[in-house]
Amino acid sequence: MIIKNICCIGAGYVGGPTMAVIAKKNPNIKVTIVDINAERIAAWNGDDLSKLPIYEPGLADIVKETRGKNLFFSTDIDKHIAESEMIFISVNTPTKTYGKGKGMAADLKYVELCARNIAKVATTNKIVVEKSTLPVRTAEAIKSILHNTGNHIDFHILSNPEFLAEGTAVNDLLNPDRVLIGGESEQAIESLASIYRSWVPNENILKTNLWSSELSKLTANAFLAQRISSINAISELCEKTGANVSEVAKAIGMDTRIGPKFLKASVGFGGSCFQKDILNLVYIARSFNLNEVADYWEQVIVMNNHQKRRFSDHLIKTLYNTVSGKKIGMLGWAFKKDTNDTRESAAIYVADHLLNEQAHIAVYDPKVPETKIQNDLNYLNTRSEEENLKGITVTLDPYEALKEAHAVAIMTEWDEFKTYDWEKIYDGMKKPAFIFDGRNILDKKEMETIGFEYYSIGQ
Ligand code: NAD
Ligand code: UGA
Repeated sequence: MIIKNICCIGAGYVGGPTMAVIAKKNPNIKVTIVDINAERIAAWNGDDLSKLPIYEPGLADIVKETRGKNLFFSTDIDKHIAESEMIFISVNTPTKTYGKGKGMAADLKYVELCARNIAKVATTNKIVVEKSTLPVRTAEAIKSILHNTGNHIDFHILSNPEFLAEGTAVNDLLNPDRVLIGGESEQAIESLASIYRSWVPNENILKTNLWSSELSKLTANAFLAQRISSINAISELCEKTGANVSEVAKAIGMDTRIGPKFLKASVGFGGSCFQKDILNLVYIARSFNLNEVADYWEQVIVMNNHQKRRFSDHLIKTLYNTVSGKKIGMLGWAFKKDTNDTRESAAIYVADHLLNEQAHIAVYDPKVPETKIQNDLNYLNTRSEEENLKGITVTLDPYEALKEAHAVAIMTEWDEFKTYDWEKIYDGMKKPAFIFDGRNILDKKEMETIGFEYYSIGQ
C-alpha cells in the first residue's frame, strides 16, 4: 500500500515527537495528529513555539520546520482517520483505577475507543499501527473490533512500540537503536518499514510476529527499571558499609557484559511507564498463574517504593526526627531532567510524605508550573486541596525556594542546579544547613567545605 496520509491518534509525549520526526523525514507524506483534547491541539498549533504542550530539546525546531507543510494538528478525528491509509494509535494506556485488575492491569479503554472510531468511519483499507505500549495479545482485540464492522474493509494490524525516553526524545527518534515492527502481513510491515527507512538503516529495523513485538516493549521497560532498582538496592548497602555506589557502578559497568548505562542510583525512578508497564507484566503473569514470574518482577516496584520512602525517612530522621513547621526547599519536580513531565515523579511521593509530617515545602522546577504541582498532590487524595495549597509554595526563583530553609532536597538532576551559587544559598539557610541530594549531582567535598551537612544516595 502506498502511504500518502498518516493519522496519529493521540498528541502526547509519544504522538507529538514521533510524528514530527516522521513528517520531517518524509516530506511527501501528510501527517496529521489528532486528539480529543482541544486545548492540547490548540497548544500544538500555537504561534509561540516555546509553549508547545511538551517540552523536549530540539522538538520546537522540527515543529517549526514541518508544521503547516506536512505536519498538522487537529481535533477532527473522523476526517483524518477516513482520509489516511495508515493510522497510529498513540493514546495513553494507564494503570486501571477501577474494577478487575485495579492498580495492576493496563486500562485499554482509550485504545478500544480508537479501534471503534476507526471501524466506524473507515471506508477504505487501512493499516492500523499500535504505537501505545500494550499488553501482549492486545492486537487480537483490536483485530476483532475492526473485523466485525461488517463493512468489508481490509485492516492490517501492526505493533510498532516506541522506545524513546523523555528529555532525549528527538535524538532517540532520529537515531533509534532499533525500530521494532510486529505483524502478520508482510506487505503491511513493508509499508511501515519503508517510512522508517527514510532515515533508519535497514539493519536496524527488526521484524517479528505481533506477540513478540508487544511483549518486547514491556520486557525492555522491565529490564531497564530492574537495573535501577538493582543499583538502588546496592546503594543502601553502600551507605551501611562505606562503599560508594558511584564507584561500584563504574566498576561493574566496565564489564562489557553489564555495560555502563542505567546504573545511576537515585531517589527512585519515576515517569509514566516503568511502574505501569511492570505492574501490567505482573498482572499478565498472574493471569497465567505464573506466580514466581509475577513475584520476581513485582520486586522491582517494591524496591523503588522503598527507595523513595527511605529518602524522606532519612531526611526526617536527620532533621532531629521532626520536620513539623520546617521549610524544606525542593529543587526539581519533573521525573527527570529536560522534560516538563511529572507523572509518577519521586518528588510527588517525597513531598506527600513530608507534608504528612507537617513540613512546609518550597519547590522550584525550571519547567513545571505551580498548577501541575498542586494537581499532582491533589491526585493522591492524601489531604484537602486547601491543605496542599497551604503546605507547598512554588517559586520562580530557586534562591527564593531555599531562603531560610532547614534543608534542600534535590529531586531532579537539572543541570542548572550544579551551577548555583551554593555559598550564597548556604548563607541564606537555617543552620545547620542540610542537603539531601537525591540525584548525586553535587560534589560532596565542595558542599562540606562550604559548611553544608551533605547526604547523597549510596555514598
Ligand atoms: P499522553 O497522555 O501524553 O498522550 C495521550 C493522548 O491521547 C492524550 O493527549 C489524550 O487526550 C489522547 N487520547 C486519549 N484517548 C483518545 C481518543 N479516543 N481519541 C483521541 N485522542 C485520545 O501519553 P504518552 O506519554 O504519549 O503515551 C502514549 C502511549 O505511549 C502509552 O501507551 C505509553 O505507555 C507509550 N509510551 C510512552 C512513552 C513516553 O515517554 N511517554 C515512551 C514510549 C511509549
Ligand atoms: C523509559 C525508557 O527509557 C524508554 O525506552 C521507554 O520508551 C519509556 O520509558 C516508555 O516506555 O515510556 P523515560 O521514562 O522517558 O523512558 O525515561 P528514563 O530515562 O528511562 O528514566 C526513567 C526514570 O528512571 C527517571 O525517573 C530517571 O531519573 C530514572 N533513572 C534512569 C535512574 O534513576 N537511574 C538511571 O540510571 C536511569
